[in-house]
Amino acid sequence: MSNALLEVDSLHVEVDDKPILKGLGIAVQAGEVHAVMGPNGAGKSTLANVLAGRPGYAVTSGAMIFDGVDLADRLPEERALLGLFLAFQYPVEIPGLSNMEFLKAAIDARAKHAGLDEPSAADFIKRAREAAGRVGLSADFLRRGVNEGFSGGEKKRNEILQMLLLQPRLAVLDETDSGLDIDALQVVAAGINAFRSANNAVLLVTHYQRLLNYVVPDRVHVLADGRIVRSGDHTLAEQLEQKGYGWLAS
Ligand SMILES: Nc1ncnc2c1ncn2[C@@H]1O[C@H](COP(=O)(O)OP(=O)(O)O)[C@@H](O)[C@H]1O
Ligand SMILES: [Mg+2]
Repeated sequence: MSNALLEVDSLHVEVDDKPILKGLGIAVQAGEVHAVMGPNGAGKSTLANVLAGRPGYAVTSGAMIFDGVDLADRLPEERALLGLFLAFQYPVEIPGLSNMEFLKAAIDARAKHAGLDEPSAADFIKRAREAAGRVGLSADFLRRGVNEGFSGGEKKRNEILQMLLLQPRLAVLDETDSGLDIDALQVVAAGINAFRSANNAVLLVTHYQRLLNYVVPDRVHVLADGRIVRSGDHTLAEQLEQKGYGWLAS
């Protein structure tokens, strides 16, 4: 038995009866940042989505154990309450629901689940403004609809804002670096580094090495054709940058 915060074992996942993940294993301890890299279509987002419990992803065998809990039986909202957070590769717009209301509802739900008092409105607004400032979003973004009319970079910053406010145990960040200019990339990296602690863990799903210049991972895994074909330390990412993925045929 391991005491990993996240343990994924021999995971097989199908989408529309098509096998996508084919025996994927990964173990992440509290305090660690792991990067999952790999070519387009390898199954990286499938891993992120199946961890979060997105409908349509059928686990046909294997296990996902999060903080001792088997995720298979848990609804997405239960997983979130347990402290699992997914930053989407393509964050959705929710017109009509203000970012502020959305964040407050999420924070209140987690507080309630943990048997804690909900933060007061004033306290919450202070924290939300602080988090917005950290990711370089003005307070206006808290009043607007969730991601409504946000640019690509603003959406990614907003995902990090959610993470900083919600303080999950495990943050799965799906290509949060993609499409960012260098300034936004550094802001996102600083947010992740500020979030890192001995009590939480981060799974950084990324196609490119450049984020890993700013967020140095403890482990790097290469996902190809539905399984991890190579794992190593942060220097593996540099090798991939130079050589691409082809030399690691699965
Ligand atoms: N909802 C879906 N419907 C059909 N096929 C899907 C779906 N999600 C993923 N796939 C397929 O699964 C494979 C892996 O996709 P994905 O996990 O998005 O890869 P990556 O994030 O590594 O680029 C691709 O062939 C993709 O077309
Ligand atoms: Mg993807």
